[in-house]
Amino acid sequence: MGKLVALVLLGVGLSLVGEMFLAFRERVNASREVEPVEPENCHLIEELGMPNFAPDEPGKIFLMDLNEQNPRAQALEISGGFDKELFNPHGISIFIDKDNTVYLYVVNHPHMKSTVEIFKFEEQQRSLVYLKTIKHELLKSVNDIVVLGPEQFYATRDHYFTNSLLSFFEMILDLRWTYVLFYSPREVKVVAKGFCSANGITVSADQKYVYVADVAAKNIHIMEKHDNWDLTQLKVIQLGTLVDNLTVDPATGDILAGCHPNPMKLLNYNPEDPPGSEVLRIQNVLSEKPRVSTVYANNGSVLQGTSVASVYHGKILIGTVFHKTLYCEL
Ligand SMILES: *[C@@H]1O[C@H](CO)[C@@H](O)[C@H](O)[C@H]1NC(C)=O
Ligand SMILES: *[C@@H]1O[C@H](CO)[C@@H](O)[C@H](O)[C@H]1NC(C)=O
Repeated sequence: MGKLVALVLLGVGLSLVGEMFLAFRERVNASREVEPVEPENCHLIEELGMPNFAPDEPGKIFLMDLNEQNPRAQALEISGGFDKELFNPHGISIFIDKDNTVYLYVVNHPHMKSTVEIFKFEEQQRSLVYLKTIKHELLKSVNDIVVLGPEQFYATRDHYFTNSLLSFFEMILDLRWTYVLFYSPREVKVVAKGFCSANGITVSADQKYVYVADVAAKNIHIMEKHDNWDLTQLKVIQLGTLVDNLTVDPATGDILAGCHPNPMKLLNYNPEDPPGSEVLRIQNVLSEKPRVSTVYANNGSVLQGTSVASVYHGKILIGTVFHKTLYCEL
């Protein structure tokens, strides 16, 4: 009898999970057609294609000088005793100090853990010198980072559970247990929480506001930054597409968002029916009615799984999770 009850309960449990999974699919899968939008003169950056999905290769950092006529991507040498074999880079942020020294802060996942590596950029040699590794118990499942001072940064945590079954439940149950963290040598604290999956993070040009993409909730949180580094939410901009990573157009202050219009196709990758790509521009971010327009959209025939786009002097560079990189004139 006890066994029967247990079996019935298990059955009820599984069908609940099934229903939640269907609800989750409904939530993420807009399954819409992607209408193509293509800027002028686009071409793929040869060096940054990843056709072989080489997951076991250590990661690299590339440099592209967008001031050049035909910029090429060049892998940077790393010196200073850094363990390159375990390099598994994720979010990157640059910090330039008073003496114009350029530092690169890189989220790294050695053995699936999360650390932040600090490098100094040597412009003459076009190389990186490893300086130090930051570890902290709150630095878990880190996705992206934005550095605002020497060893002072915000970072996003994109999932709560590291166990893959639990993190699957976290996703379908819509737990909203992820957060934004502030790190400094003196203080480390959670400054914003309640995100389904906090992903890309960046700062406005005047450094007064912080923008956070909640990928699973399909929106961007506009947060005000306070003197004690706390963040308060001003508003949420719904985009109706999975928002991955954000940049700010240095010329206009607009947000550019790399988005996934076909999330289910991204999760169940099939080269015959690939996920599309979408880049949105959000103008007048702080106004009552921000304006959202499409800068780039493709059904996957050219570019699959766009995660980020960056503009500079009328050019746009569009990156993806595991596919290619496209460079266009706007
Ligand atoms: C997100 O975009 C920023 C530019 O704002 C970039 O520096 C960073 O590496 C990107 N992060 C991820 C995880 O792609
Ligand atoms: C994607 O778009 C291309 C060009 O616009 C078109 O030729 C192709 O049939 C489309 N593929 C799908 C799966 O819709």
